[in-house]
Parts: sequence; structure tokens; C-alpha cells
Amino acid sequence: MERVSALIQKDMQAVEARFRKNLTSDVPLIGQVGEYLLSSGGKRIRPMLLLLAAKLCNYSGEHHIELAGVIEFIHSATLLHDDVVDGAELRRGNRSANAVWGNEASVLVGDFLLAKSFSIMVGCNSIKVLQLLSDTTTQMAEGEIQQLLNTADLGIDENRYLDVIRDKTAILIAAACQVGAVLAEASPQQEAALREFGLEIGTAFQLMDDALDYVADLKDFGKERGHDLEEGKMTLPLIHTYSKADKNEQHEIAQIIELEELSEVDLNRVCDLIEKYEGIKYTRLRASERIERAKIQLDMFPDNEIRNALCALADYVVARNK
Ligand code: IPE
Ligand code: IPE
Ligand code: MG
Ligand code: MG
Ligand code: MG
Repeated sequence: MERVSALIQKDMQAVEARFRKNLTSDVPLIGQVGEYLLSSGGKRIRPMLLLLAAKLCNYSGEHHIELAGVIEFIHSATLLHDDVVDGAELRRGNRSANAVWGNEASVLVGDFLLAKSFSIMVGCNSIKVLQLLSDTTTQMAEGEIQQLLNTADLGIDENRYLDVIRDKTAILIAAACQVGAVLAEASPQQEAALREFGLEIGTAFQLMDDALDYVADLKDFGKERGHDLEEGKMTLPLIHTYSKADKNEQHEIAQIIELEELSEVDLNRVCDLIEKYEGIKYTRLRASERIERAKIQLDMFPDNEIRNALCALADYVVARNK
């Protein structure tokens, strides 16, 4: 990952500087909440992908900096909203913005970041990028709403789960990669390959996030363990386990998922069942398959350090613990 960062270090510094500028507002709360989130150490996967994709397609203009910032702004807006919806209290190892400033402030600053993203995009003079990112944010909202409707529904199977994670997470990562190709006016085949690459690693990314929600250390992951279960989220480790469990175990899971407050004992019981039926192993395997499929998409590009960096980023998605 350090080698990957080194390749785009200058551009990333420019992206960070642009964030700060775009947070400027006469309303001080916007700068406070925005700055709190943006300086809290996100991994910056999405802007890195956009910059690398643009470089892979030999883009030589200026708009990649602005648009990499837009992608991270959209991501930040969804995190602000997501933590309200999920009732989360921790983000990146710190108190989440909603825990510090309240739900109202988080929702409204999230709205500001989204609105600001669109005005920056308009300045980039590409209807195609504007169309792509408008479709993307619409689909992300659909994914989050569908997930809400799926809460505590034990009838959700792997395919319906995959639809949700494509919409809520993979679509934005795919758009980051595709924007790089669109800016560079790459061939339709190259553009489609980069989008597909993003969809595969984006899906793997959420699969891993959902596995880590059950097994990660708070100090690495920076979010509470077992929070998805507490919120009644039907994620693959649980879906797989439920499908393999016997009748009594299924009944136990059904009772636990309905609980308003999850005790350590309940969480441990579900974790034991996930362990018994290898729910984490299964989820990791599904994620690794996606990463292999992602890397094949890049075969049509020249074998150079940029392509290697994208492959390294893809591998990082399944190797990460944060
Ligand atoms: C968190 O995304 C939300 C998901 C889609 C799982 P990241 O894990 O990329 O969050 P940061 O920006 O690095 O904190
Ligand atoms: C997040 O999914 C997807 C979006 C932010 C749209 P999660 O709810 O699992 O993300 P975390 O775990 O809170 O980062
Ligand atoms: Mg969440
Ligand atoms: Mg969520
Ligand atoms: Mg999560």
C-alpha cells in the first residue's frame, strides 16, 4: 500500500488541499463537522482508485483532482447519514459525528457535502461524469433504503444481499474507476473494464466490511464489533450461518436478531454459530473470488506500475483488518 500511495502522493496532497477549500462556508458548523470527518484518517480508497484509473488511461488534464475530491465528499456524506441510520457511535476510532453534534447536524452537513459535490462536478464540464455520478448517488440511496427494508428479515438470501451491497457500496467504487477512464476518453472497452473492476472490488470491500464487523479488533477497525447484528443487518456471515443452522439454532438467531439491545452473551452465541458454520471463511472466500475476477479485467491494459498498483489495491481489500 505504501508503494501505491507513493505513486499518487502529489495528486493526493492536491486532493486533500482541495477538500479543505471546498469545506469553506459562512456557516461554521459545516467546517467543524467536515474537518472532523476528513481529518480522522479514512483510507481514501475511492479517490486513490480514481487517480490510478485516470493515470492508467494516460489522462493528462486537471479535473482528476477535483473529481477525486468529489468522490470522497460523496463517500463522507454517506458516512454521516449512515452513522445516523445505523445509530453508530464510533467511526475511524473516534466518536462519530452524530455522537458529537447530534443526528440533525450530521444529516444536514451530509446534505451540504452532497450538494457541494454536485456544484463542483458541474464545474468539470462533463455531462457524462455528471450523469454517471447522479445515477450513482441515486442508486446508493436505493441500496440503503432496500437494506432498511431488509432489516431482521431472515428470508434474505445471498443474492438479495448482493444486490444491496452492489447498490450501497460497489457502485461508488465502480464510478470512481470509471470516471478515471471517462476523463481520459479511454475506449469503451477500457471504460467498461475499469467499471467492472470497481464493481468487483467494491463488492469484495463490503463483504470484508461485513465479515470484519463480527471479527475485527476495535483498535484496528475503529467501529463497534457486532453492530450489524445489533441493528438487525442481514449480512453474509449471518445469512450463510442461518442457512446451515438446524431448527433450534435458527430459532435462537431469530430471537437474538429481534433484540433492541444485544448483550455480550448473545453476540458471543451468534459468533459461535458463525464459527461453527464457517460464516466468516465463506464470506472471505466470496470476497477473494471477486478480487481474482477484478484483476482479470485489467489484462487489457499495459503491464506497468499503475496496473500493478491497482492490483495491489485490490489485494489489500481482502487482506485488510481496518
Ligand atoms: C466504510 O468505507 C463504508 C463502507 C462502504 C464499508 P471505508 O472503509 O472506505 O471508510 P474509510 O473512509 O476508510 O473510513
Ligand atoms: C455502509 O455500510 C455503506 C455506506 C456508507 C453507503 P456499513 O453501514 O456497513 O458501513 P460502516 O460499517 O458503518 O462503515
Ligand atoms: Mg454503518
Ligand atoms: Mg449502514
Ligand atoms: Mg459495516
